[in-house]
Amino acid sequence: MSRLVVVSNRVPVPGKGKANAGGLAVALQAALNARGGLWMGWSGVSSGAREPGAMTIRQEGPITYALTDLSRKDIDEYYAGFANSTLWPLCHYRLDITDYARKDMAGYFRVNRFFARQLAPNLKEDDLVWAHDYHLIPLAEELRRMGVKNRIGFFLHIPFPPPDVFFALPVHATILAGLSAYDIVGFQTAYDADNFCACIEREGIGRRISEGWIEARGRRFKVGVFPIGIDTAGFEKAAKDAERNPAVRKIARSLIDRDVVIGVDRLDYSKGIPQRFLAFDRFIRENPAHKGRATLLQVTPKSRSDVPHYLEMQREVAELAGRVNGELATLDWTPIRYVNSSIAHAILAGLYRIARVGLVTPMRDGMNLVAKEYVAAQRQDDPGVLVLSRFAGAAREMNGAILVNPYDTEAVSQAIAQALSLPLEARVERHSAMLDHLRKNDIAAWCGAFLDALSETNPRL
Ligand code: UDP
Ligand code: G6P
Repeated sequence: MSRLVVVSNRVPVPGKGKANAGGLAVALQAALNARGGLWMGWSGVSSGAREPGAMTIRQEGPITYALTDLSRKDIDEYYAGFANSTLWPLCHYRLDITDYARKDMAGYFRVNRFFARQLAPNLKEDDLVWAHDYHLIPLAEELRRMGVKNRIGFFLHIPFPPPDVFFALPVHATILAGLSAYDIVGFQTAYDADNFCACIEREGIGRRISEGWIEARGRRFKVGVFPIGIDTAGFEKAAKDAERNPAVRKIARSLIDRDVVIGVDRLDYSKGIPQRFLAFDRFIRENPAHKGRATLLQVTPKSRSDVPHYLEMQREVAELAGRVNGELATLDWTPIRYVNSSIAHAILAGLYRIARVGLVTPMRDGMNLVAKEYVAAQRQDDPGVLVLSRFAGAAREMNGAILVNPYDTEAVSQAIAQALSLPLEARVERHSAMLDHLRKNDIAAWCGAFLDALSETNPRL
């Protein structure tokens, strides 16, 4: 079997002891634990004004971590700049807050070249190279320039928008060309793959030649749909084990006689947290019987605080939680429990299990693993109900969820009421179909499907 070489900006640095808040790190950790391989990426550390030194190599079980620091300038221009102030909002359909600066774009390409330069000498001839997410789009082109002939695949964890949105990016053609240098480009849903193909064709870069194949810039590459899964069995077990976890039991005791509605999201504008608070506020006002009973437990670790829009969000969300609680709370009941710390899976699984509703209402999301984790964590004989945004990739698969439009607070408020009133039989029916799907389409199946497809592409001998 060829060695797997995964490259991603975010790598959960071993021994740091913090929960992985972020779908990419959670999913790749599960995939690499099972298969082993090399995982290269950013250490999360700044080397300040100095150029970063050699990569740090660490072996942890089956995974070899190869980590590099980045300079302050690199972090500002590549990570906080082009990746998270340009590509992230653009791909989440937020043209209103998409900032573009040539300096950041240049930093983005410079860091990709740097990653390629670090990686190339460490590659063996038959390694399968798998690059992840919007930070690393130009990586294949840079590796090819350095003479790397290995098969190289790319998976985009976030949405890919339609041409009218994507073309607002001044360097959209360069980004499309970068993606066309891979042997396979994978997306979360068929909508994303179609949007990408439409961009390629409308820009005149290439054309679809058959199902799943594109011809562009004198070569062919594959485009595929690989909806990412979770470690379903692991999550089911963690949720059962959590019933005996003292920390979970303590939280459960503090919520006794409450109907818990849970939200778990990085503090990101794409997750629709303010809109969710407004919907919950409305739900309580319109359903007085739930006053004093229903509690929204919102777990929201801070994220990307060096990007201005994220800092603004932190204040906005905290103020809104304070306002709703100030207006509705009673001496023995707080409607919204808003927590900024990052919670480990062993506890999170238990919190999902005690929640009667999983409220997952992003304005736009590539997949949303939380939706899948919530389902996997439920008791099969008495499951909770998933209320899910139609704009999350997970909505294409989670057929038993109550789908909502997160822009419509009235509809979300009604969906919460509906979820809390569903009889047992209806809950079991909705849940079991989704659990079956998650068991069949887990993280190992996702990884296997992508790597099989990558292995079938032509080597460049
Ligand atoms: N997560 C976690 N602890 C937290 C908050 C989130 O472990 O306190 C995990 C969550 O369980 C999920 C991931 O972070 O596995 C979030 O992935 P998702 O796809 O929902 O959203 P993303 O953050 O990738 O946009
Ligand atoms: C999303 C992105 C990932 C990213 C994660 C956490 O899941 O798709 O690429 O790692 O958010 O964001 P961060 O900026 O902390 O890596």
